Amino acid sequence: MNEEKNKRSNLVNWLLFIATIIIVILIVLLTTSIVERRVETIARLQPVREIPEWEPRNEIWGENYPKEYESYMRTRDTLFRSAHGGSSTIDYLEEYPELVILWAGYAFSKDYKQGRGHAYAVKDVRLTLRTGGVEESPMPGTCWSCKTTDAPRLMNTMGVEAFYSAKWKDLGSECVNPIGCQDCHDPKTMNLRITRPALIEALERQGKKIKDITHQEMRSLVCAQCHVEYYFKQPGFYLTFPWDKGFSADSMEAYYDSYEFSDWTHKLSRAPMLKAQHPDYELYLTGVHASRGVACADCHMPYKVEGGRKFTDHHIRSPLNNIANSCQICHRQSESQLLKDVYSRQDKILELRRIVEKSLAKAHIEAKVAWDNGATEQDMSEALRLIRHAQWRWDWVAAANGVGFHSPVEALRVLGTAIEKAEQARAKIALVLTKLGVKLPIKMPDISTKEKAQAYIGLDMDKIIKDKNELIRTVIPEWDREAKERQGTLYEY
Ligand code: HEC
Ligand code: HEC
Ligand code: HEC
Ligand code: HEC
Repeated sequence: MNEEKNKRSNLVNWLLFIATIIIVILIVLLTTSIVERRVETIARLQPVREIPEWEPRNEIWGENYPKEYESYMRTRDTLFRSAHGGSSTIDYLEEYPELVILWAGYAFSKDYKQGRGHAYAVKDVRLTLRTGGVEESPMPGTCWSCKTTDAPRLMNTMGVEAFYSAKWKDLGSECVNPIGCQDCHDPKTMNLRITRPALIEALERQGKKIKDITHQEMRSLVCAQCHVEYYFKQPGFYLTFPWDKGFSADSMEAYYDSYEFSDWTHKLSRAPMLKAQHPDYELYLTGVHASRGVACADCHMPYKVEGGRKFTDHHIRSPLNNIANSCQICHRQSESQLLKDVYSRQDKILELRRIVEKSLAKAHIEAKVAWDNGATEQDMSEALRLIRHAQWRWDWVAAANGVGFHSPVEALRVLGTAIEKAEQARAKIALVLTKLGVKLPIKMPDISTKEKAQAYIGLDMDKIIKDKNELIRTVIPEWDREAKERQGTLYEY
């Protein structure tokens, strides 16, 4: 009986002993992990090196903030493609050849592609045919403003006006670091900050004080430094946002009309044209997400957890490549339902957009026929004004990224007015043509491919491409050599 009892208490002792060892091991493991985490946090809070004001090189900032830097570097991925967006190169002129006609006489008719990602900003602005080649490069320094962290650095040393009015090519060896940390952060505090004067100036003209801006607003305004409508004000190509009468397509149109501003004169119709850039922020402002306080960064830079640390994902991209971390933080619907919601809106917007594109291409060509048959300025002036407004409104939606998803109802309204104006222009031109004795309908040229459309508007693409290749072969390597000499390292693509 006693022996039985002894055996049992022996067993209990052993069990207690083993349990204690396990508990001790667990405690040791837990403390090491806590210490490790603390070291990680401290490492982040105490930068390994001090970053000077206007440091353009992302890799230098990356030494202090490796998670944010690594995720930023993923903007180099070009594999994701959604129904209409993503990070792969889509040649829009090939996909929609009417655009060549819409931009006749303007550089966009040479080349216009889907954006890839922030890490490519410098490379892509060098490569696009729009910036020209060795012989011909009409672009001002202003074009670098939203491509590189070197822009604020140079504005600080050269002065803002001198930066804008320099030649694009003359700043080639200075503008080498793609969009990055310095564009959005103060190096001392890492707080978000606005580095582009055009945004500060536009907000101040509206009576808004920079110090009153909330943190949540900043999470969109850092993007609004570049993802906005803008123009180059003369003299000096001064980068300006046309917001003084409001953010809508209609108010910006009124703003441009009040200056009689035009970006170019259309080669076929001779209409005084406006080119919309990418009014992403302005269109977004009219949507339900903005009115509920959802910021650009909520969808495009959601939080991510890696190795137990939560940080902001700097792989800025289409949120459709990241629905779980982006949309599903707020929406409980399945991934396939959310995708359907986005695509159904985009498809409807694209349907109307295509109607305007076809209608405007006809309007430009019909106007050309009217001129060719002796129409006068007086005959044409009303029709040309309608073409200007129709194309501006179409472009305001078409040039904005995301195929209108940021505010589907407003996108459809603006496209609706564009259809109305384009058809009114065609009706007026038809009257002129009838008066001139031209038989209707006029015969349309074959513009079914990008090449045919470019030949029709008289572009010598072989020459343009040859000139660009010369720049890539001789001038760009020289820029890179000089930059490397100046700053030590150079970002490699
Ligand atoms: C509610 C979420 C949401 C908000 C807020 C939002 N976006 Fe988007 N954005 C999207 C979606 C969805 C798309 C469509 C992506 C696609 O078609 O692949 C998109 C597309 C884009 C694109 C094109 C991406 C591509 O791959 O084609 C850009 C650029 C962009 N948004 C910028 C912005 C900016 C700038 C803001 C703030 C002014 C903003 N977005 C606010 C959800 C959002
Ligand atoms: C286009 C603007 C933009 C760029 C470029 C950018 N950031 Fe950020 N960053 C943000 C936003 C927005 C947040 C979220 C800040 C908040 O809400 O407080 C953020 C947050 C951070 C934070 C705070 C911790 C965290 O993860 O939330 C760090 C550190 C940081 N970024 C580092 C970097 C580094 C390093 C780079 C360059 C490789 C960089 N950022 C480039 C916009 C940017
Ligand atoms: C300094 C200017 C600048 C800032 C600031 C900036 N962007 Fe961009 N963004 C660009 C340019 C230029 C491109 C096109 C780059 C390329 O493909 O060469 C681009 C591309 C993108 C793309 C990919 C476009 C596509 O069609 O797939 C997305 C998404 C995007 N930006 C969202 C944002 C968001 C969200 C913010 C704010 C958190 C932001 N950007 C801040 C200039 C900027
Ligand atoms: C930070 C929260 C938040 C995030 C992130 C967010 N949404 Fe929303 N979304 C809202 C709110 C709030 C509304 C307004 C509806 C409401 O109040 O119930 C809304 C409305 C919508 C609507 C209907 C309105 C419209 O514009 O047609 C769609 C569709 C939608 N969201 C899709 C998305 C998708 C897709 C994403 C990811 C790319 C996303 N949302 C990300 C909060 C969010």
